[in-house]
Amino acid sequence: MLKTIYEAVQFIQHKTDIRPEAGIVLGSGLGSFASEIEAECEIPYTDIPHFPVSTVEGHQGKLIFGSLAGKNVVAMAGRFHYYEGYTEQEIVFPIRVMKFLGIKTLFVSNAAGGTNASFKVGDLMIINDHISLMAPNPLIGRNEDDLGPRFPDMSEPYKKDLIAKAKKIADANNIDIKEGIYFGVTGPTFETRAEYKMVSILGGDAVGMSTVQEVIAANHMGIPVFAVSVITDLGIRDEENTITHEEVLQAAKEAEPKLTLIFKELIRQL
Ligand code: HPA
Repeated sequence: MLKTIYEAVQFIQHKTDIRPEAGIVLGSGLGSFASEIEAECEIPYTDIPHFPVSTVEGHQGKLIFGSLAGKNVVAMAGRFHYYEGYTEQEIVFPIRVMKFLGIKTLFVSNAAGGTNASFKVGDLMIINDHISLMAPNPLIGRNEDDLGPRFPDMSEPYKKDLIAKAKKIADANNIDIKEGIYFGVTGPTFETRAEYKMVSILGGDAVGMSTVQEVIAANHMGIPVFAVSVITDLGIRDEENTITHEEVLQAAKEAEPKLTLIFKELIRQL
């Protein structure tokens, strides 16, 4: 596995001189964040050796290298989901590549369904912990000791100091920011009423189909993570409650400027 990571890293480093200190994963409907980056180089996933290719609408499928808030960054426009048929190792492959490209912090965004009754559509939720009813753990299998330990600690999967800084940034910019637990599921079905209720009873504030595995892989390698969910729908409403992918993308798009501001200012402070 290390060999495939090195081959991808080598290929990328031949294409760009940018040595990123932060990696950013852009979630569903959050692709226009990328236009904030002064891009120096864009590499389609299809060009990179061993990279899986994204298939879902709203995901573009490329790595963007450039500068954001004075820092060198790499952004994944489009990520890989278990429901697309990728293995959990494929899902985390780009995270491992970003580690070997030199990133010191990982920023993750996603669209998620709110299961906390105090949330509304368009809210941002800083993820402070997660629960996984997801795909198998991406670390199952022989441990790659050069990546990290067999039994990684997960007591602070989302870095507290980054969360504290983000809250200050939100405050200073009059952004009402929520904080809570992300509940990872496989999808692709949105949840049934009973499932949204279960997520809420089990302690989840938002539910989504990504993120958890990427965050596990980052923690395995000792990379601090900051992650935000955009609340795009509310599963626990009593009234008529159909949810569509279009609605999710639209809500994410509308909330994106707030997310952009917070990521950008946090990156400035790195
Ligand atoms: N459930 C799961 N994943 C999601 C949702 C949801 O309600 N909204 C956006 N991604």
